[in-house]
Amino acid sequence: MDSLGLCILLMVLCFQWTTAPAAEEITWTYTGLVGQTEWSEYFPDCAGNAQSPVEVVTTQTKYDPSLLPLTPLGYSQHGNKPFAMYNNGHTAVIELPEWMGLGGLPWLYTAVQMHLHWGSGGPSHGGGEHTVNEMSADAELHVVHYNSELYPNMSKAMTQSDGLAVLGILIVTGEETNLAFNNILNYLGRIRHADQKVFIPAFDVQTLLPEDLGRYFRYNGSLTTPPCHQSVTWTLFNERIQISPAQLLKLETILYSSKAEDPDRMLLQDNYRTTQPLNHRVVFASFSAESGRELTSGEVTAIVIGVMCGCVGLAVIIRFIVKTIRFFTLLHRESVVVNSSTSSWDVLHSSRPAPMSRMKEPEEEKKQDMALNSTCEAGKKEEPSPSPQRDP
Ligand SMILES: *[C@@H]1O[C@H](CO)[C@@H](O)[C@H](O)[C@H]1NC(C)=O
Ligand SMILES: *[C@@H]1O[C@H](CO)[C@@H](O)[C@H](O)[C@H]1NC(C)=O
Repeated sequence: MDSLGLCILLMVLCFQWTTAPAAEEITWTYTGLVGQTEWSEYFPDCAGNAQSPVEVVTTQTKYDPSLLPLTPLGYSQHGNKPFAMYNNGHTAVIELPEWMGLGGLPWLYTAVQMHLHWGSGGPSHGGGEHTVNEMSADAELHVVHYNSELYPNMSKAMTQSDGLAVLGILIVTGEETNLAFNNILNYLGRIRHADQKVFIPAFDVQTLLPEDLGRYFRYNGSLTTPPCHQSVTWTLFNERIQISPAQLLKLETILYSSKAEDPDRMLLQDNYRTTQPLNHRVVFASFSAESGRELTSGEVTAIVIGVMCGCVGLAVIIRFIVKTIRFFTLLHRESVVVNSSTSSWDVLHSSRPAPMSRMKEPEEEKKQDMALNSTCEAGKKEEPSPSPQRDP
């Protein structure tokens, strides 16, 4: 009996050994044994040359004036039917009704779901997937749509190069609480463990998007999680949305990647993929990225201080130049006066009688004074000489 049991056990083990689990059943993670760097061993597309996310260098984007503002269709007509939200062990997924879609692309895309990526270190410690000029956001929202004009469903579309359209919304922390975001956050406590599901009240999904839907980056990429199919037309909005630090903290610490029955609880954190090489892909911009770049408050402060310092510096320089010019003008005038007076006196002393005789020649003395005055008041109008022609 014991040998039979051992034999059965061995057979079971052999059977499990020989039937390697299908890729879909592999439990992938972000770090660890089946972490990001190992994904491609089980999901070959993850080693493709058009992967996501990417780093967007705004100076290297190509302005494409044909990229019109994105039009969310039916996002605000959420109806009364609740949205299903579940924890799949990698993120929180909110299923979207099929009447929501996306206009402004070559085909009509139908909404499927939205989900989030986040970090673990609080504000300014990463969590977003796409980076812009090496700046990472604190979290990122993805709204996933499939090409419903060409394909019957999501599973068929996700393997086609024109199958999916995903909106990427970068999330950063600011002072104010984002009330729209609470439509999700308030219910995360009910899906703390993987595989848990909850129905949440339907809400206006457009309130989660940034206000400016006209400025975005567009490129061809992939799903940012296994199986990493290169089927996504990406739209990454230039404007970031803000949540409060408390909201970020809640997002970062409320979910587990482990199931309820798992003895070891594993916090679901840092579920973002590192940026992937562009490999000669072009990132297009719907706006002229350089002129339209929004300035941060730090940059504005720097510019204001810079301009003020520049003005003060310029004023000091101008004052110095003016003073220098005045000084040299005065010096010049004084030397002229001194010169002329010296020479006059020289002339007087040499050609004139002794000073004692001065009183006898008041006319000559007067002329001499006038000569001195006119030298001192250089630039003054010459004494109008009587013109006999003007007399009637
Ligand atoms: C998706 O469409 C394909 C092709 O029509 C079909 O074979 C498949 O069963 C569909 N999948 C789902 C989940 O509906
Ligand atoms: C994406 O790829 C398609 C097909 O190769 C191409 O026509 C399109 O211009 C590409 N779009 C972008 C934004 O690169």
